[in-house]
Amino acid sequence: MNSLSSFLLLLLLPALTVVGLSTTGAAITTITTVGVTYATPASAAGSSPISPDRIAAKVTSMRIPAVRILDSDPALIRSFAYTNVSLLLSVPNPLVPLLATNRSLAMRWVYRHVLPFHPRSRISMISVGDDIISYSPDISQFLLRAMQNVYQSLRDLSIYKVSVSTTFSFFNTISTTSAPSTARFQQPNGDFIISPVLQFLEMTNSSFLINIYPYNFYRSNFEIPIGFALFQEHPFLFRDDLTTGVRYRNIFDIMIDSVISAMAVMGHENLPVIVAETGWPCTGTDAREVDATVLYAEMYLKGLIKHLRSGNGTPLRKEGVAEAYIFELVGREQQGTRNWGILDQNMTQKYRFEFSNGCKTSRFRTYLIGLLLVVVVLRLLM
Ligand SMILES: *[C@@H]1O[C@H](CO)[C@@H](O)[C@H](O)[C@H]1NC(C)=O
Ligand SMILES: *[C@@H]1O[C@H](CO)[C@@H](O)[C@H](O)[C@H]1NC(C)=O
Ligand SMILES: *[C@@H]1O[C@H](CO)[C@@H](O)[C@H](O)[C@H]1NC(C)=O
Repeated sequence: MNSLSSFLLLLLLPALTVVGLSTTGAAITTITTVGVTYATPASAAGSSPISPDRIAAKVTSMRIPAVRILDSDPALIRSFAYTNVSLLLSVPNPLVPLLATNRSLAMRWVYRHVLPFHPRSRISMISVGDDIISYSPDISQFLLRAMQNVYQSLRDLSIYKVSVSTTFSFFNTISTTSAPSTARFQQPNGDFIISPVLQFLEMTNSSFLINIYPYNFYRSNFEIPIGFALFQEHPFLFRDDLTTGVRYRNIFDIMIDSVISAMAVMGHENLPVIVAETGWPCTGTDAREVDATVLYAEMYLKGLIKHLRSGNGTPLRKEGVAEAYIFELVGREQQGTRNWGILDQNMTQKYRFEFSNGCKTSRFRTYLIGLLLVVVVLRLLM
């Protein structure tokens, strides 16, 4: 190699690295982050609680990029320090009326759950309440004020990178019809509770959080074939929205686009959507739930991740959902309850699947192609 070509090589390498980085950067923005939900099991007889450090170690070893922590245990938040795992915290439902009526209590919640850990633990968002409409219609009226108080407390502490939202559940908020484009928010909650929340989310650059269970949708619509719920591709597995002429190939997209349509009617069609919960149970409450099996759970999650990674989004939302949290990391093993866990109580995985988005390999590939080009150019020069 002469000195001119080695000089060229030195010039080209950093440029190619930049190309590799920027192409993967662009890819990441269109691909949904897939995380998990973790809830500390209620101390059931016979099961000892899993230590926060073990949970954090397991999450990082499985390369899960985001965790939704249902009870927001401070010890668990701390155990994710310096891991780069992003955390979605939750304010428990019973606290919602208290935080709504007493600003200093909202400040105390933020003091205890965010301030000591931010930004070493990457807290991205706080969901004030989870499915509050089905938890208690009486408490729902406090929702917006509680969200505002938590938001203001974060501002008062100069914390600007943590968004505030709340979580709704599909079945208690969306009135479904056969076509996603005609879906609406159920009334009167749509006008009195959800619409003001949507305005708050828009004003604060936050996202709409919703629990999406194709499992329940499938169970309440017996004419739907199971493959349609499990992302199985088949020429005859589709449903057309006769209003828009759009063709749907899985229930998940039908549910997401129903949410998008309901938001659009209220003038908020561009709010990012985050799926706070989704999953498929491995065991049901009783023997009649024949579709609650490990095999179907595995098919659902593999199909979901493949679909979210495809970058195709949904027919009405090209960029797809921003994040999706699988319910749930560790399953409950009590008799008569559904077990949604991807891990057993002893922390072993029930089936293999990858959370990581493979951006390292694609960056590496870009880099290799670049390097090959350099070699070709150099050969031509020499
Ligand atoms: C609000 O909460 C603070 C802190 O717990 C308490 O001292 C105060 O009395 C409460 N105020 C009202 C009006 O309940
Ligand atoms: C929301 O985002 C826009 C554009 O990025 C920015 O101009 C605005 O200040 C943000 N608002 C808040 C409340 O963060
Ligand atoms: C973990 O628990 C499951 C179910 O209880 C069992 O099938 C499996 O063998 C256990 N694995 C280990 C490594 O103990």
